[in-house]
Amino acid sequence: MILTCPHCSKEHSIDESKIPADVTKVRCKFCKQLFPFGEEKKSGSQTPRVRKIAVSLSKGGVGKTTTAVNLAHGLSLAGYKVLLIDTDTQGQSAFMLGAKPSAGLTELVTNELAPEECLFQAREDLWLLAGGKSLAGVKRVIDRKDFGGEMTLAEKLAPLEDQFDYVIVDTSPGWDPLIVNVLFYVTEILIPVSLEVMTLQGLVEFLKSISSIQKYQPELGLKYILPTFLDKRVKSTSGILHKLEELYGDHVCTPIRYNVRLTEAPAYGQSIYEFAPGSNGANDYRDLIRKVTGNQKLFT
Ligand SMILES: Nc1ncnc2c1ncn2[C@@H]1O[C@H](COP(=O)(O)OP(=O)(O)OP(=O)(O)O)[C@@H](O)[C@H]1O
Ligand SMILES: [Mg+2]
Repeated sequence: MILTCPHCSKEHSIDESKIPADVTKVRCKFCKQLFPFGEEKKSGSQTPRVRKIAVSLSKGGVGKTTTAVNLAHGLSLAGYKVLLIDTDTQGQSAFMLGAKPSAGLTELVTNELAPEECLFQAREDLWLLAGGKSLAGVKRVIDRKDFGGEMTLAEKLAPLEDQFDYVIVDTSPGWDPLIVNVLFYVTEILIPVSLEVMTLQGLVEFLKSISSIQKYQPELGLKYILPTFLDKRVKSTSGILHKLEELYGDHVCTPIRYNVRLTEAPAYGQSIYEFAPGSNGANDYRDLIRKVTGNQKLFT
């Protein structure tokens, strides 16, 4: 039987008969992370069907929302069914897609509407659970719980997720109970790192916070570090990029170059593939999608 590690995607050939019946988790010999074994045995599938990826870093303005929106739309253009969840009170994901949903994540968590009424179809194969100011209501639901508040989001999203191939979660800057909830829900983290020294410091702090969650949520894996705002004219960027590659090796993705088209697209409610399909921004995000899906033939 072949098992694929959901954290690093490396395959393991194992003799199922040698694993005791009560073993439910195995440790990947490559990335050393634990992943569930029992579910694979029961379903016979090699990987969980839906992949849940948070785009997150405490530091603001590093390209989280730009990445979440263009990753989600790019995956849907590649033929996957995608749910984009905006957990930021700024509510920018809907704006960037030119969408005006009347409900979203808040109504789902507070049970005000049925789950299907909270989803907004933003494009073919792309659905949105919008964020915005009303997320204060979600934070209140989390705060009110004496026990298990960190699982609030996971409990509400579980019945929805089977319809999708990918769930992409955009998070707000900072660190709060809602981000903790996101990290108890997803299994993969993508960290956009703008190529500045200050962001590197922020990354180290953020990774410490992540490891405190991993103690309770061992399925959570740091999967991708995405350098953003690459500008070769700025001398310090290549040094920072080298440092990232030295520290995080294969997790580091091909950088997203500084591209003014990425800043212009949101005003038109368009993703980069719609607004400027031939731009560096579009090409760089297509490259990210090839890395995430492991399919090098996409968009070629
Ligand atoms: N590669 C890029 N080149 C040029 N501009 C970019 C690039 N990526 C993002 N931007 C712009 O930088 C600004 C910040 O990006 P974005 O909103 O995606 O960051 P964020 O991390 O989500 O911010 P916040 O922490 O406030 O949520 C936006 O105006 C966006 O259009
Ligand atoms: Mg944002």
